[in-house]
Amino acid sequence: MMKPTRGQKSKNSPVGSQCVLVLQGPNLNMLGSREPEIYGHTTLADIHRAMENRAKALGVRLESYQSNHEGELVDRIQSALAEDVTFIIINPGAYSHTSIAIPDALKAVRIPYIEVHLSNIHARESFRHHSHFSAGAMGVVCGLGAQGYLLALEAILDRLRPARP
Ligand code: DQA
Repeated sequence: MMKPTRGQKSKNSPVGSQCVLVLQGPNLNMLGSREPEIYGHTTLADIHRAMENRAKALGVRLESYQSNHEGELVDRIQSALAEDVTFIIINPGAYSHTSIAIPDALKAVRIPYIEVHLSNIHARESFRHHSHFSAGAMGVVCGLGAQGYLLALEAILDRLRPARP
């Protein structure tokens, strides 16, 4: 029998044992006050609270981590392997357009991830149009503000629900 990849194993393990890791890149700690005309008025704490409530209702554990430093995000992704994280939701912030190390870490741990951007990066400056994360992502949500995180979580929770007979 083929060894299941990470994430696929979730179909047979109890939903309650699942963990989703939410990673936030640089400057996202300033959400709420940072360029609200682009990123909205919702704070990072508000976003994480809403996600935690939704995950908890379905018995899924949610961990969140924000860092302004590339290496710290790499370290957090590597630790996720030992913690048996099933899915990752990541907004890499400006590292979306510059980092090779973070997408490499995601490839190394082979944990499926969804990339989220609050703003529509394709409708902004040309240097934001390319993300090094998108090709390896399960999916990309962008331009829907804070709701994008909940939509990404919903997609993951859907995949964690035990398969119907
Ligand atoms: C962002 C878009 C990036 O271009 C920017 O550098 C960010 C936030 C977004 O969520 O829209 O920091 O990832």
